Amino acid sequence: MAAAESDCKALFSLDSYHVSEELGFILPDPLEELPPYYQPWMDIALRVPELVHSHELRFRINKMPLLSSQFLQKHRELRLAHLALSVMTMGYTWQEGENNTVEMLPHNLAVPYWEVSQRLGLPPILTHADAVLANWRKKDPEGPFDMENLELLVSLPGGDSVRGFFMVTLLVELAAVPALRNIPTVINGVRCGDTEAVARALEEISQSVQDMTDALKLMHVYVEPSVFYGIMRIYLSGWKDNTCMPRGLVYEGVQTEPMEYSGGSAAQSSLLHCFDELLGVKHNASSGAFLTRMRNYMPPAHKQLIQDISLQPSLKSFVQQQSSERLTQAFQHCVTKLLALRSYHINIVSRYITVPAARARQLRDHSQDSEEEMISRAPTALEERGTGGSGIMTFLKTVRDQTKDAFLPDTSNK
Ligand code: HEM
Repeated sequence: MAAAESDCKALFSLDSYHVSEELGFILPDPLEELPPYYQPWMDIALRVPELVHSHELRFRINKMPLLSSQFLQKHRELRLAHLALSVMTMGYTWQEGENNTVEMLPHNLAVPYWEVSQRLGLPPILTHADAVLANWRKKDPEGPFDMENLELLVSLPGGDSVRGFFMVTLLVELAAVPALRNIPTVINGVRCGDTEAVARALEEISQSVQDMTDALKLMHVYVEPSVFYGIMRIYLSGWKDNTCMPRGLVYEGVQTEPMEYSGGSAAQSSLLHCFDELLGVKHNASSGAFLTRMRNYMPPAHKQLIQDISLQPSLKSFVQQQSSERLTQAFQHCVTKLLALRSYHINIVSRYITVPAARARQLRDHSQDSEEEMISRAPTALEERGTGGSGIMTFLKTVRDQTKDAFLPDTSNK
């Protein structure tokens, strides 16, 4: 009893995890400019798509001065610097496609990139935390947080589809904010035995996960599959488990041995990792290893939150012990919605990767029109793999099926 009371008093909260009340994991008000000393970086970062298009990016980066990272102080300065150096790195590596990659990132880019990455606890490659969470501004600062009023700070080749891809993902993050806010309520309710509070919080989480699925549907409106597959995808790809960069990448001036990093993927979003830990979704050795590795690509405070949720008393056992109809329903509903989100995501992956990959295989060498040509020129090394390097469909279906195992037994939800 005394232990339960003290558990009740030491309330779990999101305060120490860099989670915003309004925006969740999204970085509030990302900076748009660095101190003037860093103008040589921003001059290039803001022009990556056009410099890639004219094949000048590598040349421009090779001539860039070596700048010290010591004048970057605030968290938001470091995040913008990481974002800018990341898009330069992706453009530099993939400017000539998969057949003419580089083995080394020049020291004037690699050294400050490494230093900024170390200070943020992020890897030196473009992550979800850069491209989505810290890459937005409102056109009208007083206007709504929606597609019409949002724009990217920096971009990659692929035009409007790049904006669509990052912004829709940002809206999925936004839709999840009520779910995130309710996680402490669930944890504290379990600790204190408050069945009603847990049930209410789970109902809100279900709704929020449904809203995430609805936001994900916008992908179809804003992202063109042939552009995603044929142009954009390579710029999100990493140098780990990637056959066209089998040895990884040397960060000149940092270490002589090449290093391997996975490409950007929303598998690096902390959201589903939090929900899985809360609901007790368990992953098997192989999919679990990939997802666990993706946690190293998140801001450390967000990774810590996932870890701390995993250490809480089991929600599933609590629901089983309480035998409350409302609570049981609310829990099952959450798992149902998470499953539906993962199933919908698999449809998206099929439309944006599996179908174009099959077409690319068919069309290679006989392409006539320009859209088909774009698809058939897409990198072959990525046909079966996600940008994070996973074998896509097997992985995603395994993860989805493991979500089903979180259902409580003896229900009609299965
Ligand atoms: C065109 C849109 C998208 C495509 C083509 C896509 C593709 C993929 C692929 C290929 C993977 C496998 C892991 C990898 O190798 O990277 C993956 C994983 C994942 N994606 Fe997406 N994705 C898209 C949008 C999103 C969005 C908007 C979210 C929401 C935040 C999301 C959340 C996830 C999650 C959480 C995983 C890890 C697997 C899981 O937990 O179920 N994806 N995605």
